[in-house]
Amino acid sequence: MIEHTAPRFSVTEALLLAKEHFGLDGHATALPSHLDQNFRLNTASGRFVLKLANTAAESGYVDLQQDVLAHLHQNGTVQHFPEVVRARNGVQKVIVEGRNGERHQLWALTWLEGRVLADVSPVFGSLIRDLGGFLGRLDQVLRGFEHELIHRDYVWDLRKAGRFAEYLEYIPDFERRELVRSILESFQSKILPRLDELPQSVIHHDANDHNIIVQGTGYDTKVLGLIDFGDILHTATVVELAVAATYVMMGKPDPVGVAAELIQGYHAARPLNESEISVLYGLVKARLCSSVLVSAYRGMLEPDNDYIRISEKGAWALLKHLCSEPSAMAEYRWRSACGMEPCPKGRHLVTWLKQNAHEFAPVLRPDLRKIDPIVLDLGVSSLIIGPPGRQPDPRRASEAWFRRIRREGAAIGIGRYNEPRIVYTAEHYRVPSNEFDETRTIHLGIDLFKPAGTPVYAPITGRVHSLSFSRDPMDFGGLAILEHSTGTSTFYTLYGHLSEHSVRELRPKQQILKGDRFAYLGEPEENGGWVPHLHFQVIADLLGNFGQYWGVAPASQREVWLSICPDPNLILGIPDRCFPVPVLPTKSIYARRKHCIGGNLSISYRTPLHIVRGYRQYLYDDTGRAFLDGVNNVPHVGHSHPRVNVAATRQMHVLNTNTRYLHHALVEYAERLGATMPDPLNVCYFVNSGSEANDLALRLAFAHTGCRDIVVLEGAYHGHLSSLIAISPYKFDGPGGTGAPPYVHQALVPDVYRGRFRGSDAGSRYAEVLQKKITSAPNGIAAFICESLLGCGGQIELPEGYLQAVYAHVRAAGGVCIADEVQVGFGRLGSDFWGFETQQATPDIVVLGKPMGNGHPLAGVVTTSEIAASFDNGMEFFSTFGGNPVSCMVGMAVLDVIESENLQENARKTGDFLKTSLQELKKSYPIIGDVRGRGLFLGVELVRDPETLEPADKEAAYTANRMRDLGVLVSTDGPLHNVLKIKPPLVFNEANAERLADTLNTVLQEDGARC
Ligand SMILES: Cc1ncc(COP(=O)(O)O)c(C=O)c1O
Repeated sequence: MIEHTAPRFSVTEALLLAKEHFGLDGHATALPSHLDQNFRLNTASGRFVLKLANTAAESGYVDLQQDVLAHLHQNGTVQHFPEVVRARNGVQKVIVEGRNGERHQLWALTWLEGRVLADVSPVFGSLIRDLGGFLGRLDQVLRGFEHELIHRDYVWDLRKAGRFAEYLEYIPDFERRELVRSILESFQSKILPRLDELPQSVIHHDANDHNIIVQGTGYDTKVLGLIDFGDILHTATVVELAVAATYVMMGKPDPVGVAAELIQGYHAARPLNESEISVLYGLVKARLCSSVLVSAYRGMLEPDNDYIRISEKGAWALLKHLCSEPSAMAEYRWRSACGMEPCPKGRHLVTWLKQNAHEFAPVLRPDLRKIDPIVLDLGVSSLIIGPPGRQPDPRRASEAWFRRIRREGAAIGIGRYNEPRIVYTAEHYRVPSNEFDETRTIHLGIDLFKPAGTPVYAPITGRVHSLSFSRDPMDFGGLAILEHSTGTSTFYTLYGHLSEHSVRELRPKQQILKGDRFAYLGEPEENGGWVPHLHFQVIADLLGNFGQYWGVAPASQREVWLSICPDPNLILGIPDRCFPVPVLPTKSIYARRKHCIGGNLSISYRTPLHIVRGYRQYLYDDTGRAFLDGVNNVPHVGHSHPRVNVAATRQMHVLNTNTRYLHHALVEYAERLGATMPDPLNVCYFVNSGSEANDLALRLAFAHTGCRDIVVLEGAYHGHLSSLIAISPYKFDGPGGTGAPPYVHQALVPDVYRGRFRGSDAGSRYAEVLQKKITSAPNGIAAFICESLLGCGGQIELPEGYLQAVYAHVRAAGGVCIADEVQVGFGRLGSDFWGFETQQATPDIVVLGKPMGNGHPLAGVVTTSEIAASFDNGMEFFSTFGGNPVSCMVGMAVLDVIESENLQENARKTGDFLKTSLQELKKSYPIIGDVRGRGLFLGVELVRDPETLEPADKEAAYTANRMRDLGVLVSTDGPLHNVLKIKPPLVFNEANAERLADTLNTVLQEDGARC
């Protein structure tokens, strides 16, 4: 059946033929090919493919390919395909003779510039959807194509897959052989007879990843065109998709998910009907069987050919995976991708349940239709899924739920259907997705909280389908599934967390009448460790499960699972009024934000995050997915730290007012802050943001010096007030900026990586240049302001001796020195509590912000009593909220936590570890130009060329976005936007650092991060 009579011309012979017949001269390279022989020709007039076909095999075969290409060009689409090059004598092909006198057809095609899909890594869902769309459009155009050979008897024709059964004997492994045999049998009996009923047309039939040409990189990779029309055939159109799906699924952790992307794209271009979707899974499996059978045959012919064994590995793995998944689930997911109701049985069941709503007996008593039960919020942002700020502990959490129910005096507490939850932390809740290990979070049932021993009643007559008992933590404990009938179809109700005794008493197939008491709620010891409750779920399709079923689904498959498991309230009848108004879904927040919030309030990442909870160094989105926070320095001691929260709420309950009254907290906090600073820095002012604090610092400087002129560093950012935009080159020299005002003087960034001075004396040389700036300022200077480690400037550590020298020059000129510690203060740098201490320099004014209140809006200025006296010139200083008792209590709690949890030392240790890991990566990736920073304030500068230091800004943006996709948050900064910024909460630990470095390692290997 398989022929191997490829022509055998040498590269030199091919080049001679190209010259003689097509006038093409240049350089030839042999290309891999199966039956034909192909050469790439690089010529002065472009690139071409020279093709030599075995005419003996199929004489009209070249004509067929040429005609289809002509058809595609005539029916002009935006898609690209190679063009046939005419020979010197005007014909499209010539006959040439091989060494042994055999005759071959010689023809040439233009070269499609781009990369093959096989070389793309990673292949994003967007690219797969694009491919689907491409194939859908292609199939639409191919519909009108006619040629006698499109109906030929072709070896890879899936309809003839049964013929490959003769190779079954070459599969040595018994189990594998039987697997393939059974798939082929089921294909012959169930799929094949349906194929003729489906839409038929000509298809390309071999959209494998070596035939698909793409252009662009990273997120912008798009399909450019398709090559090799040698497999073209008239058959069921959906086979096009099946063949392409087989290839895109290969090697993916969730192949069905990847195929869903392909199908979604295809359906948008050429709508599929339900029957086509229903045969797809069977077609893919049959195609895989064909390929492993052919490999087995070839393996028998060439037992030493390792390549065959290696190449069949992927097909076997995929086959095994597909056979382990219920085909119905694939169909539901693919229907969902096409915008169809995923599970049609689910839709019918919903209709039936609605029609019979008044027929059902209560599952627990009293009847939920007659009382108002309390509906608990157990979602991601719930206040009762754990003590504030603690990782959710389900047992403790569910005890809190119970307390709440008792407190409210409700007879029953309700846990909601379709609620994303983060309490499911046991290992068995993890599922592989294509990008990351997803945790199942979406609750598919309704929880009914009642004490252990509460009887459970059947709402509908049915039979026991299956029973099980598990002692695994966070599992169902005692589980019963009842089977019911709507009259025309079967459906199921599931009861989880029953007592062990209940499930031991029941018998499979036992009839249970409506209203029968058939089970009791279990104790925590027998219900998976939860507080007693019933998990009640309705199931339209058991998907082959017996005695087990998911009660919680992955968010990525939410719609599909909700369709399979409709809302149990269709049976329970809890009044709508008991449920809270649902919060805005992510898409709608995004759309509405555009209208009601200023457009230049930016959103991070190309796929924005909808964050609803923070815990230590983690952020959780609305579906319960956890992200490792490597970039937020405001939650300095960790997101939602309980000690800070308690300090804030306790004080909030008692008093919050302004500083015109005496309060101990203001004084205590000021004294504690002063004590962290060197003398003579001991007078504090409190405000609410870093910008306000910097503005105040400028006022202090103006008042003290009587001057207005300010010296700033290039690329610096000091806040969003008008006074600060004016001294922030990052803004006034950026988009929308209007340049430096006359009283602002910019000094060189003391950058030893890409700046003017790089040697060991760089600090003093940069300081000298700055001194010249100062002396040339005609009106004297009020202040020099700079961060103690430059943040927006690109995470730049100041060179040794820089601040000391600069401060001396500034003071000599009568100015004051302002240290902006908004980003780097409070122990972040590890070695020292304040950034300026790393330079053995003492400023005159210190500005504090971001981490000071761990998210509570608290900022401040600390200065000398001398400067404070100058400022105290008769004009009152007052900030309504600045220094209020709540803020001061919060500020003190932050200081307490830094101290008690040893966070400065952690910043040093973890920071050193992370920096070393990043420096290790630098050795493998030339794109990493520099790794710098201190403690947990690090920067990774990406460059396209280590010599010219051309900034890799696009690559940096790609890297930050990809790391976000993989669950790790970092961002980019620097005037050239090419520095990865790392500044996590100080509770970041070594495992987190390892994960961050590993993720960066993964991303830097991807196309989008390569220059
Ligand atoms: C160094 C520096 N100073 C001042 C500010 C302004 O602080 P805020 O945004 O709290 O007004 C920022 C904010 O990013 C900053 O990075």
